[in-house]
Amino acid sequence: MNIIKLSAIDSTNLYLKTLVSKNELENFTVVITDHQNSGRGQMGTTWSSERGKNLTFSILISLPSFKIEEQFYLSMAVALGILNVLKKEADCPFWVKWPNDILAVKDKVAGVLIENTIGGTFIKYSIVGIGLNVNQEIFPKDIDNVTSLNNISNRTFVLDDLLSKLLKSIENFVQYIIRKEYLELKRMYIVALYKFEKPTMFKDNLGNVFIGKIIDVSEKGRLIVELENEKIRKFNLKEIKFAN
Ligand code: BTN
Repeated sequence: MNIIKLSAIDSTNLYLKTLVSKNELENFTVVITDHQNSGRGQMGTTWSSERGKNLTFSILISLPSFKIEEQFYLSMAVALGILNVLKKEADCPFWVKWPNDILAVKDKVAGVLIENTIGGTFIKYSIVGIGLNVNQEIFPKDIDNVTSLNNISNRTFVLDDLLSKLLKSIENFVQYIIRKEYLELKRMYIVALYKFEKPTMFKDNLGNVFIGKIIDVSEKGRLIVELENEKIRKFNLKEIKFAN
């Protein structure tokens, strides 16, 4: 596996994206850094992480005949790949919070940012960016509901060991996509889903707060929620968030 290590960079996603646009890169090439000056999160947010304490890396994943409408399966595979490793590393309930945040009990321990490059009706390649809080002990006061593996388990982790376990596991889960075993992938994702079938408070993009139960996730990754009046609504990423 081709692993490019950098001491500091703006964003590993950005760096890998630029690199792949100019060079032939091996599939599953990884860019990892001790520090990002401008780490990017989902929906235009930023990702900050204490220098040298955590894992911040991006993986180039190119899948054969991977259609645009199948892209959520990569989110599922990556989240499950991370979850599978964390469950072995710390004795704590881990969940996938839709779409692909990784929670330890109810606090975020990892985030995933997938950026796709499209060619016609297919995804040519995806840059899968992962930020995992590992050995960081203290977080800024203005960030709520965040934790690290160290906070959960009171031990220090060897970052390189953890990285190789994560890469292996993610690659294993990506095989489900290559084999087109989408039903099984989705079944595992649903089992891991935070608040599945539990009454949960949400906020929609108009600011309305409501209670509903997640009953499914659609093929395209939309969240399917049953409202208190038993009506069913489907939400895209920008249309809903957890209210607490
Ligand atoms: C999120 O939860 O908002 C997604 C966070 C993704 C952060 C990772 S860190 C490595 C990679 N490079 C980035 O700039 N972002 C991702």
